[in-house]
Amino acid sequence: MEIDIPSYFGEMRNFVSYYLLETLFGPSILLGGVVWIILRSIHRIYFDSLSHFPGPKLAAIGPWYERYYDIVRGGLMTEKLAELHKIYGPYVRISHVEVHTVDPEAWGQIYNTTSQFKKAPSPAVYAHPMAQCSLFGLRDPVEHKARRQLLEPLFAKKTIRNLSWMFMSKVQKQLLRYEEYAGSGKVLDVWNSTRCMTLETMDQFLFAGSINSLEHNDFKHPLLSVFDSQSDTLHIFRHFPWIAWVAVNLPIRFIQKLWPDIGALASFQEVVIFR
Ligand SMILES: *[C@@H]1O[C@H](CO)[C@@H](O)[C@H](O)[C@H]1NC(C)=O
Ligand SMILES: *[C@@H]1O[C@H](CO)[C@@H](O)[C@H](O)[C@H]1NC(C)=O
Ligand SMILES: *[C@@H]1O[C@H](CO)[C@@H](O)[C@H](O)[C@H]1NC(C)=O
Repeated sequence: MEIDIPSYFGEMRNFVSYYLLETLFGPSILLGGVVWIILRSIHRIYFDSLSHFPGPKLAAIGPWYERYYDIVRGGLMTEKLAELHKIYGPYVRISHVEVHTVDPEAWGQIYNTTSQFKKAPSPAVYAHPMAQCSLFGLRDPVEHKARRQLLEPLFAKKTIRNLSWMFMSKVQKQLLRYEEYAGSGKVLDVWNSTRCMTLETMDQFLFAGSINSLEHNDFKHPLLSVFDSQSDTLHIFRHFPWIAWVAVNLPIRFIQKLWPDIGALASFQEVVIFR
């Protein structure tokens, strides 16, 4: 009988690696993972620096409590917060790294001009990938102050008053559109027409553009639905910043196909930047 040496050793190796991986390492890696998660959860609930804040134990374990309400339940975390405060009081721990408060005292301490509190890093709305270099996205109070001082004259009362003719012309334009509806029997969409008016005003004031959204049929400007759809993507971006990173770094044509909501926002941003 001939023994094929290489295949014999191959079999042996396969058997050994099978034995080690499937019967020894596999289960112990799994078991190790489970034990680690359990120990970490116990540590977070009972021993870490936020453990003295009341709140649901499930929330203290990790980010998934908030993610569930934000993403699976479509942004219901804000409603859940009100519920939690009724049960646990003015300070509630809502994740392993977050405490939510409704205490007006705390508000004054955190949000004032001398406060040195930094805005939260991600997961946070400030980390929106399309607003990273904006005033909104700046986390450091010193950097923020310097930038704000540059922009302040643009929003000073004097400047705004000087531009009142522009604001009034937009209101006038909106009213002229309303006249078309008078006696026509058509339903006037006051909500969207006002949003169109705001859009035009902001576009002219901030970006020197003329988007003419008030001229759209029934005030259904495509950007409005883009803004509306952002409320869903915002939650996904907030909890999974890497998805946002991928989305904004893909070629714009590709993302327009893959994820139209983000594609539309990205192309608007491009139009504004290259104007
Ligand atoms: C502003 O915030 C700082 C730091 O949190 C705090 O010491 C100070 O009392 C706050 N000022 C007011 C007026 O609340
Ligand atoms: C107001 O507008 C006029 C011209 O329209 C301009 O000369 C003046 O500098 C403006 N004032 C301010 C405070 O922007
Ligand atoms: C306003 O515009 C949006 C986006 O185009 C649309 O979905 C909505 O039905 C319009 N009307 C109202 C009353 O929201």
